[in-house]
Amino acid sequence: MTVDGALDTANQDPADDAVPALSLSGITVRFGGITALQDVNLRLHAGEVLGLIGPNGAGKTTLFDAISGIRLLNAGRVELAGQDVTRLTAVRRARRGLRRTFQRVQTFGWLSVEDNVLAALEWQGGGGGLVADLVSFPTRRAREARRRERVAEVLELCGLTSVRRESAGSLPIGLARMVELARAIVDTPQVLLLDEPTSGLDETEATRLGERIQDIRRQEGCAVLLVEHDVGFVMRQCDRIVVLHLGEVLAVGEPPEIQANAAVRAAYLGDD
Ligand SMILES: Nc1ncnc2c1ncn2[C@@H]1O[C@H](COP(=O)(O)OP(=O)(O)O)[C@@H](O)[C@H]1O
Ligand SMILES: [Mg+2]
Repeated sequence: MTVDGALDTANQDPADDAVPALSLSGITVRFGGITALQDVNLRLHAGEVLGLIGPNGAGKTTLFDAISGIRLLNAGRVELAGQDVTRLTAVRRARRGLRRTFQRVQTFGWLSVEDNVLAALEWQGGGGGLVADLVSFPTRRAREARRRERVAEVLELCGLTSVRRESAGSLPIGLARMVELARAIVDTPQVLLLDEPTSGLDETEATRLGERIQDIRRQEGCAVLLVEHDVGFVMRQCDRIVVLHLGEVLAVGEPPEIQANAAVRAAYLGDD
């Protein structure tokens, strides 16, 4: 993983030969009189885990909304793998390999855990519609079997096998978050945005989540942007950390640099 040494509020990062998986330039979002994000610039590379921290109201969730296409920008540009997606809908961005989870969990509560995850693969479709379903072409059946296999594998990795037939809405928050994660990773994303994923997780679940983050970046080369209030978790999981404060990037650096940064400590980390 490329990691640069310099702590730099101008938001430099790995000396890049490669095209970043995600590139943000000049991202500005206002809500009426409030500027939630002001000229945010970021680059995230394949296989990199970048932490995004900052006090409540710093603009972290708004940044995720802006990247994923559910919040319009007042200014700026979002690129996925070098392609400008600023004007694309959330669905089109998802088709280019962008996935996210939500700070307030959003699963299909009435569907089983298994079907929630399967639904995330559904858009690829088998083609052929109803007729193909009725005739059930062998290639279609094989594809279906492969999909079920992939879902089973991801459920196992996320610790959900024993609850796979329960409705997602009936699960405690820790497991519901794992369902969201399973949905986000089942289709091997290129860029994964995780919004406060450890919130409500117990120790074992948080450890498992950390392992999944590390596999997906290593095995799939996925780029991960992690918003997290658990500073210890962020420090362990991330190559670099970005600190947002009042909608602006206050600092970027490796975990030890961020921990030692006086401005960051004052704004966020306090004395712990
Ligand atoms: N839908 C909204 N309407 C008005 N203001 C909003 C809305 N969403 C967020 N904000 C404001 O934007 C700022 C950033 O919020 P948010 O992105 O949720 O921060 P964070 O996720 O870092 O806690 C805050 O001042 C918040 O009050
Ligand atoms: Mg938030």
